[in-house]
Amino acid sequence: MISNDDNIIITVKKEICKVKDITELNLLKVKYLGKKGYITLQFLLLKKLNIKDRINKSVILNNQKKQIKLIIKKKLEELKFNKVNKQFIKKQIDVSLPGKSIELGTEHPLNSTINEIESFFIKLGFKIVAGYEIEDVFHNFDALNIPQNHPARTQQDTFWVNKNILLRTQTSNVQIRVMEKFSPPICILTSGKVYRNDYDHNHTPMFHQIEGLFIDKQISFINLKETLLLFLKSFFSKKCQIRFRPSYFPFTEPSLEIDIMNKKKKWIEVLGAGMIHPNVLKYVNLDSSIYSGFAFGLGVERLAMLRYNLNDIRLFFENDVRFLQQFKLNNFI
Ligand code: DAH
Repeated sequence: MISNDDNIIITVKKEICKVKDITELNLLKVKYLGKKGYITLQFLLLKKLNIKDRINKSVILNNQKKQIKLIIKKKLEELKFNKVNKQFIKKQIDVSLPGKSIELGTEHPLNSTINEIESFFIKLGFKIVAGYEIEDVFHNFDALNIPQNHPARTQQDTFWVNKNILLRTQTSNVQIRVMEKFSPPICILTSGKVYRNDYDHNHTPMFHQIEGLFIDKQISFINLKETLLLFLKSFFSKKCQIRFRPSYFPFTEPSLEIDIMNKKKKWIEVLGAGMIHPNVLKYVNLDSSIYSGFAFGLGVERLAMLRYNLNDIRLFFENDVRFLQQFKLNNFI
C-alpha cells in the first residue's frame, strides 16, 4: 500500500529526531531509500496500478524521495557540526587565541648580489648559462692554458675527486664548455660555486664567482674596459674610484686586475680580466687570426662585502638570522 504523502514524511521526521550519530542515520537511510527500502518497494508496487494512477503515484513517490533525501542531508550536516563542536569543547581549543605567525625570510645577500649583476649584463646582451661544479682537469686547467706545474693544481688548493676529476676552482671552466659548443659571436655570463682549500676571515672553501665571456670578430681591449667600467659604476656608484692594474692569468693576454677604493681609502681588488689567450682559442678550435675576445671573473662575496662594508666572509655562510635580517630589502632602499 502506498501511504499518504504527508504521513511518510512526518514519520521520517519523527524518526530522524531520535538519530544520535552517523551510523544510526545510515540505517535510517537504508530503511527508506535503500534497495529494499520503503521508497523502492513502493516503486515496485506501481506495476499493479493502471496507467493513470501509476503516473500520479510515481510523481508523489519521487517527491517523497526528494524530501527524505533532503531531511537526511540536513541531519548529516547537523551531526557533523555537533561532532566538531564537541571536539572543540573536549580539547578546550580557544579559537580566540592569535595564530602563530610565519615570518617571511629574505633573499640571501649573495643571491641578491648575483641577481643584480646578472640583470645588469642581460641588459648589455649577455646570455646566462650554467656550468658544472664537478669538472675534469681539461676544462678546469688544461684548456685554460694552466700548465701542469701551476701552483693552482696542487693538493693544497684543489679538492680532487680523483686524478682527473675535481671540484672546479673557478667558473672559467664554463668558458671552455661554451666555446666547445657554440661558435662566435659568444656573449655569456655564468655564476656559481667554486671550491678551494682555504679558510680564514677572507676565504671559505666554497665561494661564488661570476664569469663573463665575449668573443667575436674585432673585439678589442676598449670593449673590455668600457664594459667593466660601466658595470662597476652601476654596481658601486658613478663616483667610485676604479684602478686598472696589469696582472697575470694563464688564460688571458694581456691580463689585468681591477681595484676599487673602499671607505678606508684602501684599494681592494674586485675582479680579474683580460683578452682571451690565443692558446685557449686554439684548444677549442677557434682561429685567433679571425676571432678575439675578453673574459672576466669576479668574486661575489668580495663585491658583497665591499658594498655592505663587511669584514668577515664567513658571515655569509653561518646562517645567523640576526646577520641575514639586516638585508631586508627596505634596509637598503
Ligand atoms: N678565474 C680567475 C680566478 O679564479 C678569475 C679570472 C681572471 C677570470 C681573469 C677571468 C679572467 O675570466 O679573464 O682567479
